[in-house]
Amino acid sequence: MPLTLRTVEAAQADGRPVLVRNDFNVPLDDRGRVTDDLRVRAALPTLRYLVERQAKVICCSHLGRPKGQRVAKYSLEPVVGVLAELLGLQVAFVDDVVGDEAARAAARLDPGQVLLLQNLRFEPGEEANDPAFAERLTALAELYVDDAFGAAHRAHASVVGVAERLPAYAGFLLAGEVKELSRLLEGPASPFVAVLGGSKVSDKLAVLSNLLGRVDTLVIGGGMCFTFLAAQGHGVGDSLFEPDQVDAVRDLLSRAERENKSILLPTDVVVADDFAEDARHRTVPASGIDEGWRGLDIGPATASAFASAVRDARTVFWNGPMGVFEWPAFAAGTRAVAEAVASTGAYTVVGGGDSAAALAQFGLADQVDHLSTGGGASLELLEGRMLPGVSVLLREPSGARR
Ligand code: 3PG
Ligand code: MG
Repeated sequence: MPLTLRTVEAAQADGRPVLVRNDFNVPLDDRGRVTDDLRVRAALPTLRYLVERQAKVICCSHLGRPKGQRVAKYSLEPVVGVLAELLGLQVAFVDDVVGDEAARAAARLDPGQVLLLQNLRFEPGEEANDPAFAERLTALAELYVDDAFGAAHRAHASVVGVAERLPAYAGFLLAGEVKELSRLLEGPASPFVAVLGGSKVSDKLAVLSNLLGRVDTLVIGGGMCFTFLAAQGHGVGDSLFEPDQVDAVRDLLSRAERENKSILLPTDVVVADDFAEDARHRTVPASGIDEGWRGLDIGPATASAFASAVRDARTVFWNGPMGVFEWPAFAAGTRAVAEAVASTGAYTVVGGGDSAAALAQFGLADQVDHLSTGGGASLELLEGRMLPGVSVLLREPSGARR
């Protein structure tokens, strides 16, 4: 059943203080500059909508994982200038989350003005969904809008605690993400091919297992493919490898066979003698990785097999790079997948920061149907799980309304 959310368009926001939960968890370089503004740009439609309605807009977000401590390198201050520039408006910043300073800054806002609070995760109450912390956040506003799709899988105070205490609405970004990703769950056009990469099988086993029931073909590259190769009895040399996941991977492989699903694994691999950009490297069969060598990309035969699986599909989901694409010698596999995803006529969804960065690096970011701002959130949604940040925004069935 399609999820129907209460959206910001139903909010009576005019002239009123509105707390907006954003996901401004953006990558910063070592000088504290924002290196990818995708998540800030994605937040603009909702913010513009509220500003046009003369709401007093109080934005809040997390950045990184400071774990309840004030950690200077996780300050949200670098986002202020980027947001102001993209919005074309002044954005006030307060180096406080729920203290008196934050309350004063919020109270000072005139209609149509925008304020950004300091990193929510500087406060231990955020991740703990502490009621007292949620109350203090709630006290800053009269309405709540959640546009932080990337954090919708976290049951934190700013995601669920506030939503339970204020009239709560989904912003355009969150609603759009849920709508696009739901298309993958509700009768996707077949063949449906999911391409998964990235480093850890343990992080993705639940989604792999759930996706297997929904897709026709599962394509596995990236660091996690070596645990699959090991489960098939191949030596993987010094490649990334999670021995404690081998049994689970074997179960998945035999389930695929029983259910007539195909799992595509690399047949050749680019191996290097070190984890370094300028390491010596060569292409070997996937069955022939020697000790002292580690796989850092899928090989050319694999890249073309993966690309052709993508080209033959009518629905494609891609999450996670095929190799260390930031280094030119190990970028070809990820590039081949990115190009196939970009050029196919299939409905294409790409999720996760690394895949988004890869598309951007190859100049293909605008060539997919949906580029999700959520990594973990998009995977959990595709597992068929109800996200805590989504369930608090569901519209009640009309019969249940008072
Ligand atoms: C993300 O980057 O995936 C989101 O911002 C959530 O961040 P988290 O994984 O630290 O909760
Ligand atoms: Mg993440």
